[in-house]
Amino acid sequence: MTIPEFQRHKRERKKLILVTAYDALFTQIVEEAGIEAILVGDSLGVVVQGKKDTLSVTMEDMLYHTKLVAGAAKRALVIADMPFLSYQVSIEEAVRNAGRLLQVGATAVKLEGGEAVVDRVEAMTRFGIPVMGHLGMTPQSVHRYGGYKVQGKERDKADMLIADAKSLEAAGSFAIVLEAIPAKLAKEITESLTIPTIGIGAGPHCDGQVLVLYDLLGLFDDFVPKFVRPYAHLKADALQALRRYKEEVEQGKFPTDSESYH
Ligand code: KIV
Repeated sequence: MTIPEFQRHKRERKKLILVTAYDALFTQIVEEAGIEAILVGDSLGVVVQGKKDTLSVTMEDMLYHTKLVAGAAKRALVIADMPFLSYQVSIEEAVRNAGRLLQVGATAVKLEGGEAVVDRVEAMTRFGIPVMGHLGMTPQSVHRYGGYKVQGKERDKADMLIADAKSLEAAGSFAIVLEAIPAKLAKEITESLTIPTIGIGAGPHCDGQVLVLYDLLGLFDDFVPKFVRPYAHLKADALQALRRYKEEVEQGKFPTDSESYH
């Protein structure tokens, strides 16, 4: 999937389906399921590295996981998250770090924020780096919000998010993720833009949807937000399999003669 194809979905009213991935095996499974866009999210800080938020994820972490995903992806558009502090300090650092993610195989990058990052988005776009915006409950600002809380509930905050979305579009963003905002506001933003919106906890009116893969598969259950629908229960399956394995080795039921070399 290319950036123009991705954007064409909105004009053709075809839903965009995205999911996160962090390694080669799951990238292959995601592609086999026919999903055409993969986000190497900095959510890996939580679901892969076991941290309580995404703030400690580094450029080195993102480069490593982006390389794994991009190396395995045959058709999917690979979008890499820019981690905390990789784009906030200066435009120069932002462009260099975004370029490094493209050098290891990403087609596009995603960064969080509105007005504050518009100059970064403009610079990257000017140098040929496709940028996805991310508005609403942006996890890198969790401390400012005092937790993972729905954003844009008040009219003035909602108006600010609409203005941010329009600024990101004007700066050249090819799409915007809307996270944890009221469905009505997501609809308003979606209808006011020509670029696609991708929702996560933003109701059914966005041009596309994204979910964290381990949430969708029911692998990660430390914290399951209201907007997550687990389509499988892989943690329960894994637990069952591992307990059975332990039991059968203890009881001498595994390995059997047919599972041994002679
Ligand atoms: O890091 C991530 O996985 C994300 C998605 C939740 C949008 O930013």
